[in-house]
Amino acid sequence: MIVMMNLQILPADNTNRLEPSLTREQAWKLLTQYNNEPFHLLHAETVESVMLYFARTLGYEDESLFWSLVGLLHDLDFEMFPEQHCVKTQEILEQENVNPELIRAIVSHAYGMCSNTKPEHTMEKVLFATDELTGLIGATVLMRPSKSTLDLKLSSVKKKFKDKKFAAGCSRDVIASGANMLGWELDYLIAETIKAMQEMEIAKPIN
Ligand SMILES: [Fe+2]
Repeated sequence: MIVMMNLQILPADNTNRLEPSLTREQAWKLLTQYNNEPFHLLHAETVESVMLYFARTLGYEDESLFWSLVGLLHDLDFEMFPEQHCVKTQEILEQENVNPELIRAIVSHAYGMCSNTKPEHTMEKVLFATDELTGLIGATVLMRPSKSTLDLKLSSVKKKFKDKKFAAGCSRDVIASGANMLGWELDYLIAETIKAMQEMEIAKPIN
C-alpha cells in the first residue's frame, strides 16, 4: 500500500529561476516510497549526480537543486508502474503539488517513447541524453576488472556503444538523439558523462 506524503511547498522567491518546490530530503522520501530495488535507487542517484555535474559545468549552478531533483525523481514510477511510466509520476507529483516545471522536465525524458513532451530546456535535453547513457556506462563498468569508472576510457564506452547486443536495453538512438538536441558531438557527451560518474564515485566510493 502506498502511503502518500504531503510535501512542503517552498516559496517561489525568484521566478526567473527554476525552483524545485521540494527539498532533496523530501524527494528522497518520495522516491523510496515507490522504489525498493537497489538498482533503481542507484540509477536515480546516478542520474541525480550527472544532472548536478552538468548544472555546474554548463553554468546553471543556481538551479542545481532543480536539475538534480529532476534526475533523482525521473523514474519515480518505473518500479511499481512500468506500464504507465511517466503517467503515474505526473499523477503522483501533481498530488504532491510539485512545481509543474519539474513534472514537465521529468515527463520530457521519455519523449518519443511514452511522452509527447519534447525536451526544450537545456536541463531537459541533458536528462534525455544522459539517462540511457548512464545505463550503458554502468554496464560497461561492470565488465571491467576494476568495476570502477575511475579508470574508464571514452574508447571503451564507444566500443560498447557500437556493439548493439551489449546492454541492448540502453537505446543508442536516444543517446545519439540527445547529443544532437544539445548540439554536442557524441564523444563529448560520453566523455562528460563519464567525468560526472567519476565525480560521483569519488564522492561516494563503491566499496
Ligand atoms: Fe532512467
